Amino acid sequence: MNISSLISFLFLFFSILNVDANGQPNFIVTSFGAVADGKTDSKQAFANAWTKACQTPGGVVSVPAKNTFLLSGGEFVGPCNGLTVFQIDGTLVASTDPKLDDLKYWITFDNVDGLNVVGNGVFNGSGPSSWAQCRSSSNCKNRPTSLKIHAVSDATISGITSLNSKMFHITINNSKNVRIANVQITAPADSPNTDGIHISKSSYVDITESSIGTGDDCVSIGDGASNVNISGVACGPGHGISIGSLGKYAGEQDVSEITVSNCNLTNTDNGLRIKTFAPSMSSNVVSDVTYSDIALNNVKNPIIIDQHYCPNRACNSGGESGVQINGVKFINVHGTSATRLGVSLQCSKTGPCQDILFSGLQLTVGGGSPATASCSNANSRFLSSNPSGCT
Ligand SMILES: *[C@@H]1O[C@H](CO)[C@@H](O)[C@H](O)[C@H]1NC(C)=O
Ligand SMILES: *[C@@H]1O[C@H](CO)[C@@H](O)[C@H](O)[C@H]1NC(C)=O
Ligand SMILES: *[C@@H]1O[C@H](CO)[C@@H](O)[C@H](O)[C@H]1NC(C)=O
Ligand SMILES: *[C@@H]1O[C@H](CO)[C@@H](O)[C@H](O)[C@H]1NC(C)=O
Repeated sequence: MNISSLISFLFLFFSILNVDANGQPNFIVTSFGAVADGKTDSKQAFANAWTKACQTPGGVVSVPAKNTFLLSGGEFVGPCNGLTVFQIDGTLVASTDPKLDDLKYWITFDNVDGLNVVGNGVFNGSGPSSWAQCRSSSNCKNRPTSLKIHAVSDATISGITSLNSKMFHITINNSKNVRIANVQITAPADSPNTDGIHISKSSYVDITESSIGTGDDCVSIGDGASNVNISGVACGPGHGISIGSLGKYAGEQDVSEITVSNCNLTNTDNGLRIKTFAPSMSSNVVSDVTYSDIALNNVKNPIIIDQHYCPNRACNSGGESGVQINGVKFINVHGTSATRLGVSLQCSKTGPCQDILFSGLQLTVGGGSPATASCSNANSRFLSSNPSGCT
């Protein structure tokens, strides 16, 4: 037997040994040297398992249940040779070493066409160790996002839990056809900038049947997002479901075809929010946004369009936003506001909001009297709604 046939024989033998119940080639991280003690950095073992799975059509990186692996970081980069599966049934835990807080991301999936990140496992971002600096001083640095999905298409993320990210939990950028289902995203209400899922420059993104409770937006939709469908999401605590901030940077892309349906928001700061900077650096358009069948429970700002967004008062207060908001429907939005003001539409003086429709809106102040609506520069209609119009 010559060397090359020996190698192919061994490869075949190896492949046959490592198949899961579906007959997929299964690359178990412990076979690559990962140590399930929660203390030994298994970064290299995971990288090696990924390389194998990525080369193999249908290849599976397998993280076994009841095992905890410390991962200082993970860069899972394609292109791959067909569908690649990251089957996580155990727990990955991020390092608490403050030096690693300077990284922008903990775990990255990049340049993969056909990706499944599935299982009942946990991404534990070890956030508490790095939130402290933001609580104790105003000098709060950026920290790593737990899961970065970049340049990925035809992906499913399901079943997993993301716990206590240092900064954002999941970002989806420059991607298309991404389905997120049955995920749990959790961080305390007072954890800084722990947004649940941030979507930008991506299309055909579905988020369904998931629960998200964080210290910032449950879902935030940035520039260049289109055909996003959020359905069956329970949000809270957190800052609600947001489009924006938009207009902070030059050259931002439009946001269109966003639907949010059958969602619950409980004890959140905001409910359904669109925010744009004033003055703005770009003049992108937000169009065709539909919110339907939304239950709000004790939400401070239930419905808010704020085109004068300027955190930390860092902007020139005289400017207006050039971001155009056009076509936003609120169908059967109901529940309780924690404040008197249930609807606040503060649109741009230079580009008023167009075609804002409320149908079947029912908002009360804590279950008592109807909430009020306050609007400026907004072209709006209220049908069968309470509040029944702007005051
Ligand atoms: C998450 O990781 C931290 C260590 O950073 C650990 O103390 C905590 O128990 C873990 N939580 C879970 C639920 O695994
Ligand atoms: C999103 O991806 C694009 C294209 O790769 C890149 O230019 C941009 O910097 C990314 N944005 C973020 C927030 O990472
Ligand atoms: C959004 O997703 C839900 C659940 O999968 C589905 O019923 C609904 O038709 C979708 N809506 C749009 C506009 O795609
Ligand atoms: C929202 O709350 C209602 C009533 O409690 C419940 O039936 C529904 O399943 C909840 N939906 C989600 C997405 O949690």
